[in-house]
Amino acid sequence: MLAEPATPAGARTAEHWRRRDLAVLWHPCTQMREHPDTLPLLPIARGEGAWLIGQDGRRYLDAISSWWTNLFGHAEPRIAEAIATQARTLEHVLLAGCSHEPAVALAEQLLALAPRQAGRAPLAKVFYADNGSAGVEVALKMAFHWFHNRGEARRTKFVALEGGYHGETLGALAVGDIPLYRRVYAPLLAEALFAPSPDAYLAQPGQSAASRAEEAADALARLLDHHSGEICALILEPRVQCAGGMRMHDPVYLKRARELCDVHGVFLIADEIAVGFGRTGTMFACEQSAVMPDLLCLSKGLTGGALPLAAVLTTQELYDGFLHDSRERAFLHSHSYTGNPLACAAALATLGIFASDDVIARNRATAARMAELAAPLAGHRHVAEVRQAGMIVAFELTPAGDRRATFDPAARIGLRAHRAALERGVLLRPLGDVLYWMPPYCVDNATLEWLADTTWRAIDAAVEGAACA
Ligand SMILES: Cc1ncc(COP(=O)(O)O)c(C=O)c1O
Repeated sequence: MLAEPATPAGARTAEHWRRRDLAVLWHPCTQMREHPDTLPLLPIARGEGAWLIGQDGRRYLDAISSWWTNLFGHAEPRIAEAIATQARTLEHVLLAGCSHEPAVALAEQLLALAPRQAGRAPLAKVFYADNGSAGVEVALKMAFHWFHNRGEARRTKFVALEGGYHGETLGALAVGDIPLYRRVYAPLLAEALFAPSPDAYLAQPGQSAASRAEEAADALARLLDHHSGEICALILEPRVQCAGGMRMHDPVYLKRARELCDVHGVFLIADEIAVGFGRTGTMFACEQSAVMPDLLCLSKGLTGGALPLAAVLTTQELYDGFLHDSRERAFLHSHSYTGNPLACAAALATLGIFASDDVIARNRATAARMAELAAPLAGHRHVAEVRQAGMIVAFELTPAGDRRATFDPAARIGLRAHRAALERGVLLRPLGDVLYWMPPYCVDNATLEWLADTTWRAIDAAVEGAACA
């Protein structure tokens, strides 16, 4: 498969949209000064399966599922139809004091699908929010407020993991540990305690991922001991710390974290906003540890990538802690679009596809092919590690032959690889110097083969470009 060049007319149309865009838009997660010269802006006309079709007429493989939102491909007809039908029936109604079928049906289905754990009552209630960060805010506020309602006012702190990410609003940022996003806002953030990451890449030579995870869990145990009675919740990303560089850890960590939360009477918040809905090989990553959290945050893939929506699933015990004659003890958090019917309809269509298409089994076969195709890249002299969890494969780029070294940030290796991939028709958008594949589940084997080849070439081009600069 070869990336086709833009036609002259296509190139002119793309340029037209670039100019109009940069005259009026301020893009997320972007130093706008880098547009358009350092960072090419990609005007997209439409989506089709795993592909984005640019205004320049070229096809670009969406190898990162548009920030990990897309599951079954762009413009998926069943999801599109569900949204259109819902739009003609009820586009929105406030969810305070009103109810509607999509919100109820979706909550029922999510609770039926949610991870379970022997000896624990299943998750029993669903609270909706509008996006991942808002869902994290809901979970943090619920955990704190529950203890407050019980008169445990000293429990004001959250524990989070080094290298973790939970979103950009101030509460979510407070429990994130990515300096680039967090540092400047530090004076505004609530204090959080950070436990060492179980990240297997940080293992000592010869140390297994499980041993690394156990070591990190021991450190978590010491932190919880030290701050006993001050903590309301531990929040973490099970299995993969995605924004932190697709850092993966052994499932034993979550098992230990669950036990430790129980010992210390602390809520466990599982942020499956990125890893939920089949990304890591099971419907939810918590299943790989046979763990049920007290609060489960879902978003991104929840609507198949079509509309913003988040759901926070909680226990009956947590819900009951808010029932009282006083309104102040109620969870008064709200967003105007809470439980939007269009988004709920998209989510119901998404769950329908899981039910009808045997998605998890198909993903297993796709993930196995991704593993075969990624393996040779481990031999590239600038790839220190290839790691995989289901439909996520990551490549750690380092200077040749030195696993512990990192490229000079000024060399912008990741950005150079991004540009090189884009020229070849692949949207990769690395995390620093970590390249990764997280394609829509509908990606086919021929496309994956081409992606592997393009990734190799993009790394070569990035390193050569930096050497010539
Ligand atoms: C694990 C995790 N939590 C929360 C968020 C925030 O979600 P949103 O971007 O929808 O606010 C993200 C986004 O990447 C995420 O990866």
